[in-house]
Amino acid sequence: MDDRIQHAGMRQRLMPADQAAAVIRHGDTVCMSGFTGAGYPKCVPQALAARIQQAHARGDPFRVRLLTGASTAPELDGALAKVEGMELRLPYQSDPTVRDRINAGQIDYLDIHLSHVAQHTWFGFFGDIDVAVVEIAAILPDGRLLPTSSIGNNRTWLERAGKVILEVNRWQPLALDGMHDVYYGTALPPDRKPIPLVRVEDRIGERYLLVDPDKVVAVVETDAHDRNSPFSPPDDCSQRIAGHLLEFIEHEVARRRLTPRLLPLQSGVGNIANAVLAGIAASGYQNLEAWTEVIQDNMLRLLRDGVLRFASATALSLSGTGTAEFFEHIDFYRRCIVLRPQEISNHPELIRRLGCIAMNGMLETDIYGNVNSTHVAGSRIMNGIGGSGDFARNAFLSIFMAPSTAKQGGVSTIVPMASHVDHTEHDTMIVVTEQGLADLRGLSPRQRARDIIAKCAHPSYRSMLEDYFDRACRNSFGKHTPHLLREALSWHARFVETGSMRIA
Ligand code: COA
Repeated sequence: MDDRIQHAGMRQRLMPADQAAAVIRHGDTVCMSGFTGAGYPKCVPQALAARIQQAHARGDPFRVRLLTGASTAPELDGALAKVEGMELRLPYQSDPTVRDRINAGQIDYLDIHLSHVAQHTWFGFFGDIDVAVVEIAAILPDGRLLPTSSIGNNRTWLERAGKVILEVNRWQPLALDGMHDVYYGTALPPDRKPIPLVRVEDRIGERYLLVDPDKVVAVVETDAHDRNSPFSPPDDCSQRIAGHLLEFIEHEVARRRLTPRLLPLQSGVGNIANAVLAGIAASGYQNLEAWTEVIQDNMLRLLRDGVLRFASATALSLSGTGTAEFFEHIDFYRRCIVLRPQEISNHPELIRRLGCIAMNGMLETDIYGNVNSTHVAGSRIMNGIGGSGDFARNAFLSIFMAPSTAKQGGVSTIVPMASHVDHTEHDTMIVVTEQGLADLRGLSPRQRARDIIAKCAHPSYRSMLEDYFDRACRNSFGKHTPHLLREALSWHARFVETGSMRIA
């Protein structure tokens, strides 16, 4: 297909990016495609940022409320944040400029579960959706849209927005056709039906996204690649964390709590997740499955080697090398990867039914297993909860991983009391650091505390934690989950005041 815009009516709305961006006005709620640096619009956001800058130079206010699937890239989040063009942002971001502006109180940020975004949009909690800007690979003669490297919330954006701008990206291969499964069967309560998916490879939806052609006010052509961040090899600490986790998984197989096929894997992104997946590859497992949000380079490798049989996600987040591999063997990958809307990839019903093994990073856990994934010292956002809550709450095995210290050893990631809680003690089953692994299943709060301190804390903080816990056991108001309230957050206060949790 040389001409990627085959619908006559939409073809007539082809225009340059700056003309398309002019559709967006100050105060609009704008929903854009994009999930972990994949499938985001590449040129309209930059044209919008230029318009915002011009408006500000004239002294006119111009800020938008921005919704996406998840994190995007410098051309979108970065560009709009740099020109102070964002009033509100949700549901997940990882851009340094956006983060700084949120933490300076200049952008309102709604950090919500990724599986909730579509439902909250349908219920109208974010108000009317003025404009959707969605990247696609092609427009078919009948007006259906071929999705690209992520689906995210695109189904919902296209349905709910008053006006739609489409970015047709020639860089995205047409051979993606057949890799997507867009489910249109979700409804709002009380009309909900079970989602008819019982295996990771089940196809229950449409191959293409649907849009009302009359809402499409602009079509823009691009030829620009996804973020394609480079992929760094796992460091020593990550490898040690992976080692503990793999030993635990082998133990679970030996105890027949897991079969050698394990259960569908969900893996967060980053160094530790890479090391775990590399470890799984080296451990001789075969025919595993992934039910996850994002497919990264290492998952491609596992699919090629037969370690993974099938992977379901909502986005591909690949490095340049990973992209080259994917494009070269796309016919192979189309048979073993399916991309779905994030309300399906992260759906609690499906995660619980499939019985996933969820492996996510954390900033800190307290000695009872309350996990903070998002807020440094309780107040400064890092990224957001993303899908970690969707998975942690509903997985068969919910695992949280981190180095035992951060900030050159000045921070212990095992603390008396978490300064912010994203995942409660009720959802955290396994805690792993490079020091060791604590299996919290079947343990009372005091037993959990002893285990987490003994197995996961860094030696330089262990005696401080033991001392806190022993005194709490003696002097706490209640002895069920012992705490010394005047002291419980003093480690964080010390970090904020001195840059270190250590006592000078
Ligand atoms: N206190 C202060 N800073 C901390 C910290 C703590 N307890 N723990 C980590 N940090 C800092 C690190 O020093 C590092 O800072 P730097 O960038 O200035 O070097 C930064 O946080 C990232 O830490 P790192 O150890 O590199 O971890 P990571 O890249 O694996 O990210 C999370 C960890 C928690 C931020 C990340 O996993 C996340 O955003 N999770 C929530 C969303 C999620 O789980 N998504 C996947 C589910 S689908």
